[in-house]
Amino acid sequence: MPQTVLVTGGAGFIGSHTCVELLRAGHEVVVLDDHSNSSPEVLERIAKIAGRPLAAVHVADVRDRRALDAVFTSHPIDAVIHFAAKKAVGESVRIPLTYYDINVGGTTALVSAMHEHGVHRLVFSSSCSIYGDVTTVPLTEESPAAPTNPYATTKWTCEQILADVCRHVPELRVLALRYFNPAGAHPTGLLGEDPSGVPNNIMPFLTQIAVGRRDELSVFGDDFPTPDGTGIRDYVHVVDVAEGHRTALDHIDDEPGMRVFNLGTGRGASVLELVRTFAEVSGQPIPHRVTERRPGDVAELVADPTKVASAWNWTARRDLAAMCRDAWTFQQQNPYGYAP
Ligand code: NAD
Ligand code: WQD
Repeated sequence: MPQTVLVTGGAGFIGSHTCVELLRAGHEVVVLDDHSNSSPEVLERIAKIAGRPLAAVHVADVRDRRALDAVFTSHPIDAVIHFAAKKAVGESVRIPLTYYDINVGGTTALVSAMHEHGVHRLVFSSSCSIYGDVTTVPLTEESPAAPTNPYATTKWTCEQILADVCRHVPELRVLALRYFNPAGAHPTGLLGEDPSGVPNNIMPFLTQIAVGRRDELSVFGDDFPTPDGTGIRDYVHVVDVAEGHRTALDHIDDEPGMRVFNLGTGRGASVLELVRTFAEVSGQPIPHRVTERRPGDVAELVADPTKVASAWNWTARRDLAAMCRDAWTFQQQNPYGYAP
């Protein structure tokens, strides 16, 4: 049934792809974003792909209670998807309190505004980073959380707060989705990942090499206990992740309280496998050189995605080649991202 959905961080990488899926499914979509890590241009592109406009856009900080009150009083919000957060692990080590303020404070401000305005459905962006330095893969939702940096701790703290609030507010329904490594772009080439400065994540680094903005990839370590010695991750197409959110809304009333789901493919790829696939798909050489390990990196993070498959029949449908192809299309069509 069509709902009116508030999407915080709706102009960001995952949020923008999710807005497209929601609009296409017939939902009304209200975006709240302060554009601290996104361009307003994205909002026009969302409407262009979906063939229909967003219901409204509020340019505001998710911690701003007055702005939240204005959103909830001006729209009959049925459900909230909360993407707005800061996400750079390295930066979180340098400025942890800013991360706690925005990621945890933003979540508590939002949930308390929801509560006051009688809104009881929330989909929360969590992360595989909460599992920390794991010894056993694949990771199920029951695998212990052991975050190793402030960013991951903010996500785990939010999950714990939301679980506790659900125990005391019986009408609340929360789905925490733990994404593994979202990558790729919209196949139209209109939406994609546009990090400011030097990319932290590997896929935008590869696309920037291929388009000539960077010279070579540093492969962070080849002495991990993996078949080729490089780190293994569960890359999952951002459109699959977006579809996961649309599906989540269809199931949010299945059960009261809080539920947690991994969103991943269940298939890991090493850094060298990703480099090879990207070079093949793009036809561009990817110069790369093995360097020191990046502090905090773990050998292998792969999801066990069976819980979400059996609960909602959601599985990731797009493979690593599709992620590379779509990320490359976006970068070719937007060599400098959304900048004019
Ligand atoms: P993103 O930075 O592209 O998007 C976040 C959006 O939120 C941006 O548009 C930004 O402007 C906005 N925002 C940030 N702080 C805000 C604030 N205080 N008020 C209002 N808006 C604010 O990030 P993304 O990759 O789309 O990630 C979305 C969510 O998913 C985040 O919560 C992130 O922690 C989580 N996540 C991301 C990944 C990943 O690898 N991309 C993996 C796991 C979890
Ligand atoms: C992937 C692999 C690197 C860059 C991060 C966050 C995590 C989650 C997903 C938000 C690793 C290697 C990378 C480079 C490299 N985000 N690499 N050279 O670190 O798995 O996860 O994004 O929740 O919290 O930590 O992703 O893309 O940075 O790295 O060799 O220049 O690529 O060592 O094995 P990561 P990533």
